[in-house]
Amino acid sequence: MNTGTQALAKRAEAMIDALASISAEPDRLTRLYLSEEHRQAATLVGEWMRQAGLKVRMDAAGSMRGELPATGGTPDGGRRLLIGSHIDTVIDAGRYDGTLGVIAGILAAEDLRARDVTLPFALEILAFGDEEGVRFPQTLIGSSIVAGQTSDLRLDATDAQGVTIRDALLAFGCDPDTLDSEAYESRDVAGFLEVHIEQGPVLDRASQPLGVVSAIASQGRYRLRVKGEAGHAGTVPMTGRRDALAAAAQIMLEIETVASRYARESCVATVGEISVSPGASNVIPALAEFSLDLRAATDNARTGAAGDIRERLRDIGVRRGVLVNMETVHETPVATCAPRLTRAIADAIENVTGTEPVTMMSGAGHDGQSMVNLTDIGMIFVRCRAGISHNPLEHVEPDDMAHAVLALSETIQRLARDDAPNS
Ligand code: HGY
Ligand code: MN
Ligand code: MN
Repeated sequence: MNTGTQALAKRAEAMIDALASISAEPDRLTRLYLSEEHRQAATLVGEWMRQAGLKVRMDAAGSMRGELPATGGTPDGGRRLLIGSHIDTVIDAGRYDGTLGVIAGILAAEDLRARDVTLPFALEILAFGDEEGVRFPQTLIGSSIVAGQTSDLRLDATDAQGVTIRDALLAFGCDPDTLDSEAYESRDVAGFLEVHIEQGPVLDRASQPLGVVSAIASQGRYRLRVKGEAGHAGTVPMTGRRDALAAAAQIMLEIETVASRYARESCVATVGEISVSPGASNVIPALAEFSLDLRAATDNARTGAAGDIRERLRDIGVRRGVLVNMETVHETPVATCAPRLTRAIADAIENVTGTEPVTMMSGAGHDGQSMVNLTDIGMIFVRCRAGISHNPLEHVEPDDMAHAVLALSETIQRLARDDAPNS
């Protein structure tokens, strides 16, 4: 690896570490949307964007946008190529999920300027404030605003403290009434590219630093509510109890069984959050509420699994005398990457790494699920150690980060050549 790439690896690593130090908690990384930590991280990213020569602003959803104008030639009608990812995290997060894509975008913009590349389109680097959807029961908020997908954004949705998205935006200094004006039209945009860690083991097992994403899995988020009857733990016989938590436990095992029936379409189901009330050890639980994250390689498989789960809920509810309902919080269909972009990405990766890259599906959700409603999307996957993610053990080799930056820069150069007049 030449010294230039080594220097790039060091820079990327230092930027990753700088962002990782901005957390709501002293001993683990948690940075939620519209929090003080989000503001600090956005400010730091804005500074890096400025140093890279970009024109910087925060949009009405709290995402940072850094623009490099088109240069030379006849800019193709003022279109812009969007590059981005997210700077919010899950709880006790890894430091590369999202942030690597923003940092790679900034470093690639610097690389293009250093090479004095003629760009027929503007570049806009986007640091979305919310992708994970951890603070509010809405996900992909930053990218859905850019893509003009505001119809299903509920500004009255509240976080665990009862703060609405609207009030949190106002407190952050954003004007929620201008969200609609932040959207691009498809004719304004030449495409959306994202660099992101794979968050799975495929590249690591194949000893490949980078990969090409073919599509992002179909995803649904649901809220399940089981209503039984509180009772005395010592006096109510086991038969006839209407124990909400025992019913929820049986439902969770049924969910696993249903998901395994759709294994061929890579169906996965996860219950990540649960609350029980009244929550005393000597009281039979009256209410259990829990989340369900359901994904599959095809929309049919995901909706089929969701339908089977709903059926099983009904049987269990009748048998146990509890009321069960399953509310849909968020559903995103399969987001397919554009062959125009996946070809440019694959060629760029081969040029940078010397090996033909793996092409693969993403089981993890990404901002491309919003952006695909606006424009063509393409993703570069970066190997992460043992595929560990959403976990502080998440790790990416600095050399792989440098290769990702160079592959992104080369992809943009290829698109610029294809896009240039008379190409
Ligand atoms: O849930 C996901 O797949 C992403 O990390 N938000
Ligand atoms: Mn994530
Ligand atoms: Mn992510």
